[in-house]
Amino acid sequence: MFQDYHEFLAEIVVTEEQLKNRIIELGDEINRDYADEELLLVCILRGGVLFLSDLMRELAMPLRVDFMAVASYSIGARQSSGQARITLDLNTDIAGRHVLLVEDIVDSGYTLEAVLNLLKTRKPASLKTCVLLNKAERREVEVPIDYCGFIIPDKFVFGYGLDIDEYYRNLPFIGVVDAEKYQLRH
Ligand code: IMP
Ligand code: MG
Repeated sequence: MFQDYHEFLAEIVVTEEQLKNRIIELGDEINRDYADEELLLVCILRGGVLFLSDLMRELAMPLRVDFMAVASYSIGARQSSGQARITLDLNTDIAGRHVLLVEDIVDSGYTLEAVLNLLKTRKPASLKTCVLLNKAERREVEVPIDYCGFIIPDKFVFGYGLDIDEYYRNLPFIGVVDAEKYQLRH
């Protein structure tokens, strides 16, 4: 059931201002690293879309965008089970292209691992990752993170692309859920 987020927001971990500033820094870094290259941004749906749309406006090289979606076989609503399945694949042939994966958050690492393993087989010129949030403590499988927005503690977060039961993706900041106040549906 949809609730006003004020009823369960424990704290704001990343403010709108911090997001804006950090994304400008990440854009500068990426512009420097790919100065003379064309880039293909691959956004993982759905959580990565706000990050993608703000990040791409900071980028200066010729770039293309494509999308993938991944489902994790979940145990509960918010627990990934360690397996991920591609549910939407690219429309772009990535062979010989410089590919940068854009993802909202890395938790266990299984989602990113599944995408990286698949894309590697298609022989891109290069393959790197740009992740807004890194829950480093939660990692179960090592994945390379080339550009990282923020390292955050092991708490369930929402907003700026990240959902709770598919809602609240539109909030302009990243907040922590107070689990007791948020009535779990599952
Ligand atoms: P991983 O496969 O365990 O690394 O999980 C990554 C995916 O789980 C992300 O793409 C998110 O969709 C989701 N996820 C992990 N932690 C959170 C969270 O705190 N809030 C919302 N979604 C999350
Ligand atoms: Mg998600």
